[in-house]
Amino acid sequence: MANSIESTLVETRVFQPPEGFAQHANVSGQAGYQALLEAADRDPDAFWAKQAREYLQWTKPFTKVLDESRAPFFEWFGDGELNVSANCLDVNLKNGNADKIAIIFEADDGVAKKITYQELHDRVCQLANGLKALGYKKGERSIIYMPMSIEAVVAMQACARLGVTHSVVFGGFSAKSLHERITDVGATLVLTADEQMRGGKAIALKPAVDEALGMGGCEAVRHCIVYKRTGGKVAWDAKRDLWLHDVADKQAKTCEAVTVGAEHPLFILYTSGSTGKPKGVQHSSAGYLLWAKLTMQWVFDAKAKDVFWCTADVGWVTGHTYVAYGPLAAGLTQIVFEGVPTYPNAGRFWKTIQEHKVSIFYTAPTAIRSLIKTSDAEAAVHPKSFDLSSLRLLGSVGEPINPEAWMWYHTNVGGGRCPIVDTWWQTETGGHMITPMPGATPLKPGSCTTRLPGITAAIVDEVGGDVAAGQGGLLVIKRPWPSMIRGIWGDPERYVKSYFPPELGGYYLAGDGAQCDKDGCFWIMGRIDDVLNVSGHRLGTMEVESALVAHEMVAEAAVVGRPDATTGEAIVAFVVLKRSRPEGDEAIALGKQLRDWVAKEIGPIAKPKEIRFGDNLPKTRSGKIMRRLLRVVAKGEAVTQDISTLENPAILDQLSKPV
Ligand code: WT7
Repeated sequence: MANSIESTLVETRVFQPPEGFAQHANVSGQAGYQALLEAADRDPDAFWAKQAREYLQWTKPFTKVLDESRAPFFEWFGDGELNVSANCLDVNLKNGNADKIAIIFEADDGVAKKITYQELHDRVCQLANGLKALGYKKGERSIIYMPMSIEAVVAMQACARLGVTHSVVFGGFSAKSLHERITDVGATLVLTADEQMRGGKAIALKPAVDEALGMGGCEAVRHCIVYKRTGGKVAWDAKRDLWLHDVADKQAKTCEAVTVGAEHPLFILYTSGSTGKPKGVQHSSAGYLLWAKLTMQWVFDAKAKDVFWCTADVGWVTGHTYVAYGPLAAGLTQIVFEGVPTYPNAGRFWKTIQEHKVSIFYTAPTAIRSLIKTSDAEAAVHPKSFDLSSLRLLGSVGEPINPEAWMWYHTNVGGGRCPIVDTWWQTETGGHMITPMPGATPLKPGSCTTRLPGITAAIVDEVGGDVAAGQGGLLVIKRPWPSMIRGIWGDPERYVKSYFPPELGGYYLAGDGAQCDKDGCFWIMGRIDDVLNVSGHRLGTMEVESALVAHEMVAEAAVVGRPDATTGEAIVAFVVLKRSRPEGDEAIALGKQLRDWVAKEIGPIAKPKEIRFGDNLPKTRSGKIMRRLLRVVAKGEAVTQDISTLENPAILDQLSKPV
């Protein structure tokens, strides 16, 4: 990972919260942070009950807070009832935000479209009414395969309004990945678009849905609702397909929000684990929304005047919590961005911030690193060529941010005056867990700093014992928290096995290696399982391996991650073919063919950066692939480890040379 132990240990710079910021912050100074931390530690139930009453509107108040009777299947506010969409929209109409801009949609081509809270509410209600008219109701599951758009947010909110559990699939995933999710989640409805626009190019979405629905096992899907984004030509199944505007536009602009239990699954989002099949991470309604709203206040210091921009796609958890739900629940104006950071040029982020006077900007280290390269070469796209004075807070998410990138972000984008919140969290945690509070926490470049109130993050050894400050270990969360994962859809055993292994005595296992320094600051060292982080996207090595061996030419494959200056990690695949080992031009051609194959099987994000062919793979005498050796040769380093258990040592030589 970008953040090796060595580099973290030498990092000594500390940035105190700017005085002016701290003065007006929602959580102000160390005293403010400590007070919350102590209150949450002293009596967690009372603390969470207070927050849940203050931050959420309940249709039926809860009487229970945390129910541990079925641990590790925890319940929060279990007998309470509410509706998430009402808490994001109706609340704002009541609070005088009806005419406030809810979303500024910044299209790929730079055209901006604005929509108020009243208009957003009306459109969510119209689609919800349309879905209701088609017979959709609480307890069903929908798949949303849509581009970044107001319509995608409307689709998610409309489902939430009816109690239909959504599962958003990132538009970059293949038809096969989409099919896997449609069938696993048991969807009855699919929402998609004709095409999406990215970097000036139209990319088709509907054909992938057609292909997925044609693969069998999707008979439960009654309708495919299509948002007309580009007007590109699409195939049409008159019995199944409907235009979104035909479903929604004639409907009434009010729709009573369906009350659901606090634990009702708001969404299921698939993410990679250490085995081949992605896991459907199930989230609740109340605990999840509480966390989305609370972290908007605590971590993003949300104020009525803010213009918030989270660049994540709604296909990832960041786009759920900090696009579709959090900013709306907090009543902010936010940017929804369709494009890519490098189109029409690498100044796109800065130009957009300047134009819409963005005050809070939240993006991924991989984007920052790629922009550093171009802007250092080209003054016109350098952040210094733009007026970024509206910014007051920056955020980072998805992977460790290396201190050099942190400093560049702080100096050039933040003008040295904006705190950076480096937020550590996961699909499973629902929202921020370890992060600075910008008006309270001293910042250390490369560290996600301290735990949020009520989040009992700690570093432990293999049997759950606390390790000393500065020692590496497993990152765990000792007590449940409101927005935690509620289960893996359809696989309770895997949930227990993955996150609550018995040897840790009930702690939540995050899957990251980390250390905590003497100031209580956490330094994430990377995953401890076979999960890779490529450009902030999570991928299982087994997932890529399964895709490779599904190719008729491939006998065996092993996939590892290699540190990469831009993408954090890059995928390197070692492949044994059923035929003899190719060399020279043939190896290059076959490598390309296999890389394209993986892109088609999973999606372009899973494409290996490099493929190396071998006569065999390094294995122990009992036949286990020694991935740790492959990680060394992928980096181009010499193997210095003990290889006495290796059955075929000569193979390392062959695999150490790139094609
Ligand atoms: C994994 C979770 C967080 C939402 C987007 C990714 C890594 C995430 C940080 C950070 C170091 C980070 C971890 C984690 N990660 N944020 N600030 N510093 N590492 O969610 O796809 O579920 O991935 O991303 O390894 O386990 P995800």
